[in-house]
Amino acid sequence: MDELEWRQDAVPVSTRFQDAYYSMEDGRAETSHTFVQGNDLPRRWPQMDQCTIAELGFGTGLNFLETVRQWLKYADAKATLIFVSFEQYPLEASDLARALAPWKELENLASHLIKLWSPDFEILDEMFDDRVRLLVFIGDANVRLPQLEFQADAWYLDGFSPAKNPQLWGPSLMEQVALHTAPKGTFATYTSAGEVRRNLESAGFRVERTPGFGRKRHMSRGILSDADVAHEH
Ligand SMILES: C[S@@+](CC[C@H](N)C(=O)[O-])C[C@H]1O[C@@H](n2cnc3c(N)ncnc32)[C@H](O)[C@@H]1O
Repeated sequence: MDELEWRQDAVPVSTRFQDAYYSMEDGRAETSHTFVQGNDLPRRWPQMDQCTIAELGFGTGLNFLETVRQWLKYADAKATLIFVSFEQYPLEASDLARALAPWKELENLASHLIKLWSPDFEILDEMFDDRVRLLVFIGDANVRLPQLEFQADAWYLDGFSPAKNPQLWGPSLMEQVALHTAPKGTFATYTSAGEVRRNLESAGFRVERTPGFGRKRHMSRGILSDADVAHEH
């Protein structure tokens, strides 16, 4: 369980990591720019009958909910979204409710999530609508991810900043991310830290730096390269 402070009475900040869960400017718009657009999903979705997205750091569920909102808008009505996320320090349902309250467009989806949510589970596996399956694995992603078999079409790398939360950005975890990425799969992250980019490159991604959200100059995104370095290790 994690202890929170609230900045501007609205944005949750982890006391453990001394970092905010998302942008002070507009967390929903940041998610859309960094993760949904960063993985080029609105363009890719109409051609897919199933899409698997994986995330490091479920936090408040904001990334998940904004992704579902856009999925229901852009994807084929018969297609299924599988969203797999990892969280070591799950929040209380009341914290999710407070964090997610500012976004009216997410209200119905958020209330569904809040009803299901309990920080006591080990795995949450629930359907949203009949077109979205959410799986959240509680525990250290470094331990949980290698135990699982799936291939993500897109990754959201959303740990706290690499300086404060280095466990979620290390070379062996980035290698696991690559091993759990489908051919031509992608990742996106708000950080452009050199070490993270190098770890992702060594794991087999072609990495580029693109404009970040709001005041952030740069973010990073990438595609699993054909050479597929990680799989040869
Ligand atoms: C920036 S927040 C994620 C925000 C989230 N995506 C959202 O939409 O609210 C980073 C999250 O990573 C989690 N975390 C940190 N280290 C972790 C680890 N080793 N394994 C799994 N989760 C971790 C934190 O508890 C926190 O919830």
